[in-house]
Amino acid sequence: MNSRTTHEPIIRMVKIEKHFGSVIALAGVSVDVYPGECHCLLGDNGAGKSTFIKTMSGVYKPTAGEIYFEDKPMHFEDPRDAIAAGIATVHQHLAMIPLMSVSRNFFMGNEPLKKVGPMKFFDHEFANRVTMEEMQKMGINLRGPDQAVGTLSGGERQTVAIARAVYFGAKVLILDEPTSALGVRQTANVLATIDKVRKQDIAVVFITHNVRHALAVGDRFTVLNRGKTLGTAQRGQITPEELQDMMAGGQELVELEGSLGGTV
Ligand SMILES: Nc1ncnc2c1ncn2[C@@H]1O[C@H](COP(=O)(O)OP(=O)(O)OP(=O)(O)O)[C@@H](O)[C@H]1O
Ligand SMILES: [Mg+2]
Repeated sequence: MNSRTTHEPIIRMVKIEKHFGSVIALAGVSVDVYPGECHCLLGDNGAGKSTFIKTMSGVYKPTAGEIYFEDKPMHFEDPRDAIAAGIATVHQHLAMIPLMSVSRNFFMGNEPLKKVGPMKFFDHEFANRVTMEEMQKMGINLRGPDQAVGTLSGGERQTVAIARAVYFGAKVLILDEPTSALGVRQTANVLATIDKVRKQDIAVVFITHNVRHALAVGDRFTVLNRGKTLGTAQRGQITPEELQDMMAGGQELVELEGSLGGTV
């Protein structure tokens, strides 16, 4: 990625620790994220992925460590501060109302208003036009803006949430397991959407359990293992097998193999 040679990191997480009582979820994790890259965060259940991105997006305050956003130390009081700064998170379980239209969902919490005399109304025309345009940019042709979100496929719903975050000015887009509940075709759509977002110079942090999904779009890969990272690998510097081994905690598999007396 030549973007990395021309840009500074947009966000730098330095030696982040997060403790929950006696549980050490993060034990000093450092990751830089650059505009225009898809940075994959991999790791097994409980590795600390969600805790890490929640720290990045203002949900948790780190127990120790520093966060720099656009080169300045950042101390978000809550997620709203992070969203205002341009850090958006799309969760696997989306906050959307299935029975409401795509355009209503798209503008939920940011309703465009039209003034008619002393009254203000939801500006349907504007909302519908923008929703159709933004979805089109992501490669999805809605039947119409009134189509209920509940009638979209899982991948299309993820795309609505991603398109919405981009439209409202995300500089860092965090995706927590966006493909884990999807079939192959839907996954391909979401991965294509990630690629479109990255090309707009937005930094994408893509959390996944799936090495193939990561390798399909990732520029760099950070594997978390029990709250620690062994570092970050670039595309082409690591094989799928190595990535898979790191995720599984290579050593543990070797031990398991030994105790089972065979190959796992
Ligand atoms: N609010 C919390 N209170 C106490 N412990 C927590 C809390 N959140 C996370 N943990 C613990 O921190 C560790 C890391 O959890 P985290 O949810 O970040 O993992 P993850 O990598 O996202 O896992 P998964 O793949 O299952 O989503 C786990 O041991 C978890 O039990
Ligand atoms: Mg998680």
